[in-house]
Amino acid sequence: MSSPCFTLSDGRNIPALGLGTYKLTIEEADDLIKFALLEAGYRHIDGAWIYGNERPIGQAVRSVIDSGKLKRDDIWITSKCWNDKHRQSQVMDSCKESLANFGLDYLDLFLIHWPMGYDNDPESGINKISDVDYLETWKGMEDVYKAGLAKSIGVSNFTVSQLERLLANCSIKPTVNQIEVNPYFSNDDLVDYCKSQGILVTCYSPLANVSRVEIVANHHDLSKDAHLIKIGAKYNKSWAQVALRYNYQRGLSIIPKTKSKQRLIENISIFDFQLTQQDMETIKSINKNVRTITFDATKDHPLYPFER
Ligand SMILES: NC(=O)c1ccc[n+]([C@@H]2O[C@H](COP(=O)([O-])OP(=O)(O)OC[C@H]3O[C@@H](n4cnc5c(N)ncnc54)[C@H](OP(=O)(O)O)[C@@H]3O)[C@@H](O)[C@H]2O)c1
Repeated sequence: MSSPCFTLSDGRNIPALGLGTYKLTIEEADDLIKFALLEAGYRHIDGAWIYGNERPIGQAVRSVIDSGKLKRDDIWITSKCWNDKHRQSQVMDSCKESLANFGLDYLDLFLIHWPMGYDNDPESGINKISDVDYLETWKGMEDVYKAGLAKSIGVSNFTVSQLERLLANCSIKPTVNQIEVNPYFSNDDLVDYCKSQGILVTCYSPLANVSRVEIVANHHDLSKDAHLIKIGAKYNKSWAQVALRYNYQRGLSIIPKTKSKQRLIENISIFDFQLTQQDMETIKSINKNVRTITFDATKDHPLYPFER
């Protein structure tokens, strides 16, 4: 199966479904990325410098390109600028470092990972809150774009007010805001605002990271949701396929992560059925407004984007 695309405000086409790679280990990456690209039909990989796995992912992508089975421009590669590289000149260095890790000469999409900046003290290894403004970071993103190192640029974890300020002070508009969205966290206000500004929402943790059920006490378990299971049964689809299809039908892109080849195929097999209006309304009603990702360690930062 293959994923359809959404067109970004800069005119480029991003595959609606991509593979998340947070917690994909170095050992798992090579085989899984090759399988995703060559067997399962994935054309979009969501990476980040902080995930620490850009090298093996890049190696697998390059070996697929070298084999002649896919071309570089068949594959969409995203990376993200980490919080301790928010000063204008650091953004370019950060992008170059990710490119060197991947062994590629451009990214398809480069994002500011979070609005909060930190200064890293190399001696202590401790991060201190910095006063760097994301408007300065965005200037660095524009430099990266103008240098052709990233063909599209955007943000992640930005709020409505942060986006309003950014849009009023940029020369190149962000094309994407990557934020948490899943059936238990519909994030409607932010989604609606992004849509009104022509910014594509990419949903992270689109399955509410179900694996956390085993490690985080009281983590809400989307896989047990009776409505998702029941709707899925009508179409011979799993709860996960219904959850992903729901946000795709809302006009959002989705980047589920899995280390399993079987689930890779399952997660991309969502483009051969259609949820009815009634199904959409039922799924809308199960929203609990609970986040999977809260990044509590950064709560003291003035630019922390979530409710405290
Ligand atoms: N911008 C940001 O700040 C940010 C934050 C968080 C995430 N992200 C991005 O978004 C991606 C996805 O988010 P996420 O990794 O937090 O969570 P997720 O995609 O919602 O869930 C991933 C977990 O669900 C399991 N899973 C996947 N497909 C499944 C299926 N069909 N049935 C049952 N279980 C399934 C996986 O386990 P197995 O691996 O064992 O299959 C994995 O542990 C990340 O990998 C990352 O690329 C970005």
